[in-house]
Amino acid sequence: MSDKVYDVPSQWAQKAYVDDAHYQSMYAASVNDPNAFWGEHGKRIDWFTPYTKVKNTSYDPGHVSIKWFEDGVTNVAYNCVDRHLETRGDQVAIIWEGDSPDESRKITYRELSSEVNKLANVLRNRGVEKGDRVTIYLPMIPEAAFAMLACARLGAIHSIVFGGFSPDSLGGRIADCGSKVVITADEGLRGGRKVPLKANVDAAVNQIEGGVDHVIVVRRTGGKVDMVPGRDVYYDEAAAMVTDECPAEPMNAEDPLFILYTSGSTGKPKGVLHTTGGYLVYASMTHQYVFDYHPGDIYWCTADVGWVTGHSYIVYGPLANGATTLMFEGIPNYPSMSRFWDVIDKHQVSIFYTAPTAIRSLMQAGEEPVKKTSRASLRLLGSVGEPINPEAWEWYYRVVGEERCPIVDTWWQTETGGILITPLPGATKLKPGSATRPFFGVQPEVVDAAGQVLDGACEGNLVIADSWPGQMRTVYGDHERFEQTYFATYPGKYFTGDGCRRDADGFYWITGRVDDVINVSGHRMGTAEVESALVAHPKVSEAAVVGFPHDIKGQGIYAYVTLMDGVEPTEELRKELVAWVRREIGPIASPDLIQFAPGLPKTRSGKIMRRILRKIAEDQFESLGDTSTLADPGVVEDLISNRQNKR
Ligand code: WT7
Repeated sequence: MSDKVYDVPSQWAQKAYVDDAHYQSMYAASVNDPNAFWGEHGKRIDWFTPYTKVKNTSYDPGHVSIKWFEDGVTNVAYNCVDRHLETRGDQVAIIWEGDSPDESRKITYRELSSEVNKLANVLRNRGVEKGDRVTIYLPMIPEAAFAMLACARLGAIHSIVFGGFSPDSLGGRIADCGSKVVITADEGLRGGRKVPLKANVDAAVNQIEGGVDHVIVVRRTGGKVDMVPGRDVYYDEAAAMVTDECPAEPMNAEDPLFILYTSGSTGKPKGVLHTTGGYLVYASMTHQYVFDYHPGDIYWCTADVGWVTGHSYIVYGPLANGATTLMFEGIPNYPSMSRFWDVIDKHQVSIFYTAPTAIRSLMQAGEEPVKKTSRASLRLLGSVGEPINPEAWEWYYRVVGEERCPIVDTWWQTETGGILITPLPGATKLKPGSATRPFFGVQPEVVDAAGQVLDGACEGNLVIADSWPGQMRTVYGDHERFEQTYFATYPGKYFTGDGCRRDADGFYWITGRVDDVINVSGHRMGTAEVESALVAHPKVSEAAVVGFPHDIKGQGIYAYVTLMDGVEPTEELRKELVAWVRREIGPIASPDLIQFAPGLPKTRSGKIMRRILRKIAEDQFESLGDTSTLADPGVVEDLISNRQNKR
């Protein structure tokens, strides 16, 4: 761990929304009287009918229920678009930067309004109403934001599926939430390569009983795709038939806004459900304070809208604040390793938010691709998605930010809706590798395995003691699973699944997942999902998947595979299994290493001892721990001697 400390520069303490004293007093107020605090800050969005109640939440086992602003009525699209028209209709809302540096587009709030309303009318003409689910499987093009806001305008619940997921994964998500409408594109474009999105939708929909009613296809590349008559329509043709006026549906604060599927330690991905009022208040407030967003800033978050970061910090938070948000279709190393920095110069970006995995991969190319750009417009940097190692932090700070830009290392999750632990740039000194302190209203605690709350400097598991407005409300269609997953381990508290350390300054250092979830390039993967994909292969009898430290990805996927009797472990089969998992789940789930294992370490009752498999994958052969309960201790020696090499 690094013990370097960077004090808040005095110009930041003076100019930012909050300095340290202000943070301390606001934080105290937020936890001492959440009703008063959020009652006040809830007014940052416009309400059609103001709320009279603020917090009504319970973490009681068997009765978990989370409601914020429950009698208020509003609409998210109204807040992200309409309310800005009078004051900043001609201001740019979205800067779109295409995969190719030759393509970009600027969309003002007035244009955004017209685009969102047209898309909403196209959906409405196809019978979409309040409460209906709409699946969005789009590349990073402006239509992705239009589609989200169009759903919000009608009160339909969107479920975005990342374009890197396979037809199987997409089909499972469409079926789970019962979407009858899918919005996609002919093809996506990333790093000059085409992604067959429409063809994937066709394959996904074919496996769903009853299919879907409508597939709306945005033309991105103009590539030829199959269109099913009566079901499929090109978006531009449908949009030409509608007006750009569409009323915003009055939504209760607790009406659902979106579902986003995320991996857990067991079973299929869960549909994380977020609702309207609390989510928007929290996303917009964190966006303003964490990034110290001021009018005139050009703000760029490099995430994909297929992840929660794209929901809260490309679309909803920034647009609720009337910001200019940059949306990037491409990848960090195309057409050159300078692409991020070139885009910053081209659009004069002042706030830049990316992931440690991107920083680490760019760091490998050295300083030259960064140094040859100006980056003079930058004033703040952000990091999200996984722990940032101090070396990557220092490089980001020194080379990219030229020691001028504070870094906000923001810890949060799909489930939390917005950032929970983070520095505020005018208030918090920085320690490379630490997410530092809780945001307003957030009460982190560190507990030991028995659930005992630890004091002072300590290390254990991270729980949150009470609710905040952006918290997920349930698992779509399975409230029981919601309670089991998040509230049963430490009854009465929200369990994050992360381990953490708290230092003597009260700063939090997230150490990574303590459950069977791994974080590959900031993407969350359930080991159980990869295992079930592997065992679905006819030649595989058993599989166990764990994470291992990876220089660029943070964690890589290590799979131990036992083959069916008589099947030869060949290099060819190894490749076939990798391709199989890519096809089953998607490229992001590709195993980095596959070890063919004649046997897996099991207890006498047949339980796989993953602790041992994790240690072997981490090269920690000396600290395997207690192996006395193994049914066949010989298995371990074989595993160690056939350890796959990561480099
Ligand atoms: C998991 C949540 C939050 C948006 C992107 C990921 C890890 C996230 C940090 C950070 C250390 C982090 C945690 C968390 N994580 N941000 N700043 N420092 N770890 O969302 O896919 O729901 O994953 O990502 O392990 O539990 P997600």
